[in-house]
Amino acid sequence: MRAVQISAPGHPPVMAERTMPTPRPHETLVEVLAAPITPLDLLCASGTSYFGVPKTPYVPGVQGVGTVGGRMVWFPTSAGMAPGDGSMAEIASVPLADLVELPAGADPVGLAALGLSAVAAHLALTWRGELAPGEQVVVLGAGGVVGQAAVQLARIAGARRVVAAARSAAGRERARRAGADAVVTLDTEDVTELAVRLTAALDGPADLVLDPLFGAPAAAAARTLRSGGRLVHLGGSASETCPLDSATLRGKSLRLLGYTNNELSPGQRTAALTLVAEQAALGRLAVDHESVPLDDAGAAWRRQAAGTTLGRIVLTTTGLIGQ
Ligand SMILES: NC(=O)c1ccc[n+]([C@@H]2O[C@H](COP(=O)([O-])OP(=O)(O)OC[C@H]3O[C@@H](n4cnc5c(N)ncnc54)[C@H](OP(=O)(O)O)[C@@H]3O)[C@@H](O)[C@H]2O)c1
Repeated sequence: MRAVQISAPGHPPVMAERTMPTPRPHETLVEVLAAPITPLDLLCASGTSYFGVPKTPYVPGVQGVGTVGGRMVWFPTSAGMAPGDGSMAEIASVPLADLVELPAGADPVGLAALGLSAVAAHLALTWRGELAPGEQVVVLGAGGVVGQAAVQLARIAGARRVVAAARSAAGRERARRAGADAVVTLDTEDVTELAVRLTAALDGPADLVLDPLFGAPAAAAARTLRSGGRLVHLGGSASETCPLDSATLRGKSLRLLGYTNNELSPGQRTAALTLVAEQAALGRLAVDHESVPLDDAGAAWRRQAAGTTLGRIVLTTTGLIGQ
């Protein structure tokens, strides 16, 4: 079968002919339709992730959409985080318990683009962040996939006002299209200036900040929170550190919360993915994405790593023909 292969950590993947996987007990073969290239895939393949240096060669892809016996399913894998192969292949072997059946007529590419990024946005907002109807939310990095999904999912969860913040003009445009009430530009490291901009866009103090960036944007957004407000941190796209000041944290008894998909129970992940699929089917949830044939994965991987795409790249197999 055709598959994307990482031969050495830190090197771009190449297409390869691989033998078909043999399912272990309690696994089944999935005919892959679509697999996104996510920041987690790039990080794991770099060999610098907190999961350690992956054993090579391996097929990357921490999630995908495919079919089993004609039924469309979404599935996760632990490729790059633990030994074993992932979704960027024509066939993947997946534990039966991890399959999430998708509604009839689901768009496999659109759902692959949403996938775990939307799961993280939803559960960071609602489970970790305890978003209540009528609250005001700040979404940082709102031009990214997590951010676009979070703007829409915050609204679905009943937020009264969603203020988005993004660095690039394209990111700000994506945030607007996702339905943000106001969009703030993140083009400086000046925490005070960013806090002034966010405050001007808010209608009083924020209740909740969703933070996939860290760095100056997170420190600024923390300053806009009300007493007892929550900041849920789930990614370091801007920085590995954050210049958060002590007075902001203690002065308002803020709650700083970390979030990772890797701590979810299979039941939580399935329920969240099902909600994502339902909202996507209703036309309320979508993120910008590009569809690229699996055979062009090498160039697509480099473009996703460079951030020069029109959204999340989703690799598609010939299995999509006729879907
Ligand atoms: N904890 C979890 O379970 C979990 C799950 C999913 C994702 N994540 C993490 O969440 C983060 C976002 O994921 P994603 O899928 O949304 O990634 P993405 O689609 O690649 O978007 C990343 C965004 O980061 C923005 N950005 C990068 N550097 C920036 C800077 N210096 N200042 C401001 N903005 C900056 C970019 O904004 P512009 O487009 O405006 O340049 C881009 O839109 C990643 O770190 C990812 O690993 C964590």
